[in-house]
Amino acid sequence: MILIFDFGSQTCHLISRQLRDLGISTQIVNPEISINQVKKFNPKGLVFSGGPASVYKKGSPKISKGILDLGIPILGICYGWQLIAYQLGGKVSRTGFGEYGPATISLKPGFESEELLTRLPPKFGVWFSHGDSVTHLPKGFISIGNTVNCKNTFCTNWKRKIFGIQFHPEVEHTNFGKQLLRNFIQVCGLKTKRKRINIQKIIHEICEEVGDKKVIVGVSGGIDSTIAAVLTSKAIGTNLIPVYVESGLMRIGTASRVKKFFAETLNITPVVVQAEKLFLKKLKGITDPEEKRQIIGKLYCDLFEVEAKKVRGVDFLVQGTIYSDVIESKGTEKAAKIKSHHNVGGLSKDLKLKIIEPLRYFYKDEVLKIAKRLGLPDTLIYTQPFPGPGQAVRIMGEVTKERLKKQQQADQIVLQELEKSGWLKKIFQAFPIMTGVNSTAVKGDGSFYGEVIGLRIYNSSNIMTAEWTKLPYDLLQRISSRIVNEVPEVSRVVYDITTKPPATMEWE
Ligand code: XMP
Repeated sequence: MILIFDFGSQTCHLISRQLRDLGISTQIVNPEISINQVKKFNPKGLVFSGGPASVYKKGSPKISKGILDLGIPILGICYGWQLIAYQLGGKVSRTGFGEYGPATISLKPGFESEELLTRLPPKFGVWFSHGDSVTHLPKGFISIGNTVNCKNTFCTNWKRKIFGIQFHPEVEHTNFGKQLLRNFIQVCGLKTKRKRINIQKIIHEICEEVGDKKVIVGVSGGIDSTIAAVLTSKAIGTNLIPVYVESGLMRIGTASRVKKFFAETLNITPVVVQAEKLFLKKLKGITDPEEKRQIIGKLYCDLFEVEAKKVRGVDFLVQGTIYSDVIESKGTEKAAKIKSHHNVGGLSKDLKLKIIEPLRYFYKDEVLKIAKRLGLPDTLIYTQPFPGPGQAVRIMGEVTKERLKKQQQADQIVLQELEKSGWLKKIFQAFPIMTGVNSTAVKGDGSFYGEVIGLRIYNSSNIMTAEWTKLPYDLLQRISSRIVNEVPEVSRVVYDITTKPPATMEWE
């Protein structure tokens, strides 16, 4: 197995996911773990993740120095590499040349026969997210790769099998990242193998746990809650009760899509709770994104509880929590509880339902694989992820009935044009944003001062990194023309060309 030291990187769990995908057992551990605890795991390799701290700052996470002397191969990533360099006597500084997003690494010639570099080309695209850099190497280390802004991007101590890289091999946008991890696995003396998800086992476990009791599930039309519901229904049939809360903040047509899916695929009619007016009332005058999120989450939860209490004989609640949710809510076993509440906005304790999370050990792309193997329709598989607070976080500032209507109209235009041109299946998420900024425009003979709509359209598969989609200009033109012509009082349309990192996918 390989032990992963978590220094707080947002992509730490992706390292684990990539290694697991290559058939390797992993364990994510607190970096303050003792040498004896490390030995107990009997790891064949160690990976030090990235993290937000600076190694030279007081209180930043460190490791017991002896861990570096155990003779186990180590791959340090970003902060993990800086820490190795720092603890072995090198120097780490803020050079003023941070890198966030894509860059190209050039590997020095002469090391092609090294196992760690198998099938890596001399130059390839990598993704960074760092402000600090290793400016002086510790004794025994050499630099074998650099970018324009970072000379010690890929460094090695061949003798000690300690390797440091400044970029993130775990993210999908680093080309050959998986190959590099595969090579590290080889250096550790381990063998990679293909992994297949055991769907029958998941269904069997639900069956065993639930028996002939009833189960309630909150559905949003999103893939996670839908797949969790499908797996549960395969285990217990119509004892599953889906509840859909219509907040008015969803995409146009979501409620009918959800009803149709459950009727046609599972022969179940979901309970639909109409609450558009209530959501708008509670959001009146609210401009702070965090406050919006809290109000919406709480309202969903309150309404869901009302429905749950109406149904007799329900013992369980199914949630579509996936592994990245668990980790993002603070990792380890404790995370499940935090996220269970988070997913439905914080259910009160008196609801007394036992939680079932059939997808909690799977990542997004694994969930998609499950959906495909279950033979679910493309309309579900290609449904874009949609934020819990819905269009509210795509409307900067106050959510009013008028702005919501405009956002939804523009949203429909974006989706229609992507669908017509065949691009919808190729992108990860696409949506307009009511930016809250006004600009001047001339329509007919009169000028007016109206809101600017932003477009965010990008590619990603695991959410942690994303790049904006290079759509054809004529398609962008069609979307822009339709929005300014069809949506009232919109003055212009702008295209967001920022990668993640640094920009998040949603604007709020
Ligand atoms: P960010 O904006 O953090 O988004 O790059 C990553 C993914 O999460 C979705 N998202 C949310 N989902 N509640 C959710 O359930 C939220 O408050 C929320 N904010 C962002 C976003 O659409 C993207 O897929």
